[in-house]
Amino acid sequence: MQDAGFVKEAFAGIARRYVLTNHVLSLGTDVLWRIRTARLVASLKPRFVLDLATGSGDLAAAIRRRCPDAEILGMDFSVPMMREAQRQNFESLIAADALALPLADQCVDVITVAFGLRNMASWPRALAEMHRVLRPGGHLVILDFSIPSTPILRAPYLFYLKQVMPRIAGLLTGKKDAYDYLCGSIEKFPSGTKMESLLQECQFRKPVTRPLSLGIAALYSATRV
Ligand SMILES: C[S@@+](CC[C@H](N)C(=O)[O-])C[C@H]1O[C@@H](n2cnc3c(N)ncnc32)[C@H](O)[C@@H]1O
Repeated sequence: MQDAGFVKEAFAGIARRYVLTNHVLSLGTDVLWRIRTARLVASLKPRFVLDLATGSGDLAAAIRRRCPDAEILGMDFSVPMMREAQRQNFESLIAADALALPLADQCVDVITVAFGLRNMASWPRALAEMHRVLRPGGHLVILDFSIPSTPILRAPYLFYLKQVMPRIAGLLTGKKDAYDYLCGSIEKFPSGTKMESLLQECQFRKPVTRPLSLGIAALYSATRV
């Protein structure tokens, strides 16, 4: 659970360098994670996809490439982040808070959220809003970082996350404090079975976890009954 004012300010400060910094910190792997996510979405054959916390629009653009006939709408409460989406020629955007979506009940086939839920002020309230706007039988797809469960990977990864990542990102963006927050938030965010439990508590069914890159990220899906 995060402070919305702080999060908005943090993303406004890093927006111009956000995409580059992602690619450097993940050595390009973030592109592959979004491709995997977009493939999963395409397999669901949606007509209307809402990409929440769309930010720079990277996932929305990847989905558009794989679902050319679907309507893809990006939403985010950070206008500076969405300007980066426009720079990538993704224009189907609305500025809105994920905790109060300006959409009718049960109108969306698939909601995607990449690296976004973690930054929201209340995970249960955000998930309740997603549940409200998804149609029965619709799907929620979440991509985010997680912490590898294997002890041999866990310690070095946590060191990279806490000590190395914020310093590199600070050099690239001049905003080390924003990345201290972002990297710190990963450890507190539920992953694996804890995420599946949260989804079930929020009325989603059939949660599935797909670990990515030895568990440093995970792709979750769940169904709205
Ligand atoms: C790490 S970025 C993710 C951007 C993009 N989805 C990606 O794959 O890179 C997180 C985004 O979540 C947005 N965000 C956080 N809380 C939000 C909220 N309550 N409503 C809408 N957007 C929110 C931020 O503005 C930011 O653009």
